[in-house]
Parts: sequence; structure tokens; C-alpha cells
Amino acid sequence: MTAEPDWAAFRALFPTTQHKAYLASGSYGLLARPVEAAVRRYLDDRLKTGVDWGGWGERQEAVREAVAGLLNATTDEIAVTTSASAGINSLASALDFSGPRNKVVVSNLEFPTGAQIWHAQAPRGAVVEHVPEAADGTVPLEHFERLIDERTQLVQITHVCYRNGARIDVAGVVKLARERGAMVLLDAFQSAGAVNIDVAALDVDFAVGGMLKYLLGTAGVGWLYVARRHIQALTPTVSGWFAQADIGAMDIFANTPSPTARRFETGTPPVPNCYAAEAGIALIREIGVPAIEARIRDLTGQAMDRLAAAGCTLATPRDDARRGPQVAIRSTDAAAMTERLAARGVVVSWREDKVRAMFHAYNDGSDIDALVEGLTDNRDLLA
Ligand SMILES: Cc1ncc(COP(=O)(O)O)c(C=O)c1O
Repeated sequence: MTAEPDWAAFRALFPTTQHKAYLASGSYGLLARPVEAAVRRYLDDRLKTGVDWGGWGERQEAVREAVAGLLNATTDEIAVTTSASAGINSLASALDFSGPRNKVVVSNLEFPTGAQIWHAQAPRGAVVEHVPEAADGTVPLEHFERLIDERTQLVQITHVCYRNGARIDVAGVVKLARERGAMVLLDAFQSAGAVNIDVAALDVDFAVGGMLKYLLGTAGVGWLYVARRHIQALTPTVSGWFAQADIGAMDIFANTPSPTARRFETGTPPVPNCYAAEAGIALIREIGVPAIEARIRDLTGQAMDRLAAAGCTLATPRDDARRGPQVAIRSTDAAAMTERLAARGVVVSWREDKVRAMFHAYNDGSDIDALVEGLTDNRDLLA
């Protein structure tokens, strides 16, 4: 049996935990000392060298390698982008909607970007159909079964929903999609770093995410996974010099896309953000996602049981297999509740009628206490 990580030492890397009950990691993960140091290193490098394209390229490659390791992909299958949206847009630009397979099926649990970009393809022939959720906030496989058909080119699913924390049965959707000849794009922004993801085992065609939440990096850098079998057949029309087979060729007479997923990149990489992302993912990989996932499952499970016992109405499914790092609590005025909690040092966020408490492995029992007390002291705003 491997030893339990030293969670108190991990928590100590995040100074904000000393004065806040921080439960907004699905909004923005906390800044760790090593990530702060990495950003300072970028500034020091700039002051020292002025320009260092070689060194900066290495930072981007380090991020590519770390993301590949995190997802059980190869480096050739990872594009380092500037956002999740940038990755989805590049992918969308490479798909052909002019034939009979012009349908994109998206779950109703998607983050807006993951539906808006597909709706934006309507002038190119794409038809978007939405899969409704059930009363418990999950999207059952039967709902996908009704919409995925021989006209479906792509199914977009979110791993963990940003609104209610529900998790989609990825393996089930992939199986359905395979049977009907459709591809699957997994949005892992609300899970990567907090939930183990093995893209090879899940057999998804594409996956997308970013660095600023559970991966502990910063805004302005994201990633797109493209399964090796698709890379050569997909030529993005969103492109640029960093997408070329030879970035140094400076050929203005042709577009010669990289043979790797780098063809889904465009221009100059987000260099400062790569410094932060490299350091953030390193922290995650040092401990390992399975241990982080187990800790988060334990914390969120405890929080859910205590909140339910205290009379809160939870919008997140209690089944461990059907949820991720978020616990959503119904409120009659979620914005006001979030403000009241913030005033007492409990940082949560809200969507619609729900307050979202989003846990990371740096949280501990004191954060659960602060959340439960904060919510029950404000019962007038509980639904
Ligand atoms: C699940 C999910 N997908 C996509 C996005 C959007 O990412 P980006 O702003 O990097 O495009 C977010 C942002 O919060 C998200 O939570």
C-alpha cells in the first residue's frame, strides 16, 4: 500500500488557505508557491535574456509533455492552445458538415462555449441537437440513445458539469457513438486534475481543457487532445505559423500543417502562462491524480452528508460515480448567498439557483465546517 500524501504539507503550499475557506477551484484554482516562483522565473528570464525563443519553446513542450502524461496520451496528440474555446474552434474548423453526417449532439450539461461553437458552425451546414438532463441533474444514456444516429458526426460531452457537478457516463456515450459511427469530444475542464482521465482507456476521439482550475496553472493556456487516428485526416482552417510542419520555414506560399496535433495551434504560444502551467501540473502529477481524486471524493462526500443532514437541498448526485469535485446547493438567491459567505471568508461561486462549493485536495475539514456553518447561518436563503 502506498503512503497517504501529506495533505497538510500540500495545503501549506497555498497561502490563501490560511485566511480563506477557498471552495472555488472550479472557477480558478489557488496559486501555489511553486507556481508563483515559476511566474517570477519567467520575469527573471526576460530581464536576463530579453529574448529566448528556444527556452520559451521548451516551456511549451514541457506543458505538452505534462498534459500528455496526465491524460495517458502521447505528446504528438496534444495541442497547447490559449483556451479550451480556441481548441474547440480549431477542431470545428477541420470538420466537414457539408455531407449527410452534419449533426453535432451536445449534452445540456455543457459549458456555453461547448455548445456556442457548434451553433456557430450552422452556416457551414452543422445541425446541433441538445440532449436534455433528467430530474436528478444527470444525463442518462437513454437520452443520448434517442439523438445519436447515422447523421451524427460528433457528440460533445462534459466530464463534470460546471453547473451542478454531475458526471456523464463517458464510457457509455463512447460505446453508443462508436456503434453509430460518431466521434466524441470530451470537455474535461471541470475534471482534469481532480478526476483521473485516461483518454486511451476511455477511447474518446478528442478532449479539451485548460490550466486555471484543478490543474493549478493560470488563465490563457489550454489544451486539445486529438487521437492519433484522426490527426492526418483533419486539416484546421484556423491556422498560423506555429501550426506548420516546420515553424522556421516561414513559407508564405503554402499551408503545410504539422503532422502532429500541433496543427491545431495557431500563433505565438502563451509563454508566461506555460511557465505557470508547467509548475501547476507538476504539483498534481507529483501526488498523482488517483490520490487527489480519492481525497476530493472523501471531502465532498463528507460535505454532502453534513449539508443534507443540516437540511440543505443538494443539486449534485450523491452517487460517487455520478459526480466530481463540486457540490451544488440550491438557494433562493444564490448570488446573495455567495456574497454573504464571501463576507465571512468562505469563497464559493454560483450559477442559476445554485451555490457551487468546488473542492481541491488542498481543502480540509475546516473548510467543510466553514461551509456548513455559513450556509446554515443563512437559512433564509436556502431553497
Ligand atoms: C467545462 C468548461 N468548459 C469550457 C470552459 C471555457 O474555457 P475557456 O475559457 O478556456 O475557453 C470552461 C470555463 O470555465 C469550463 O468550465
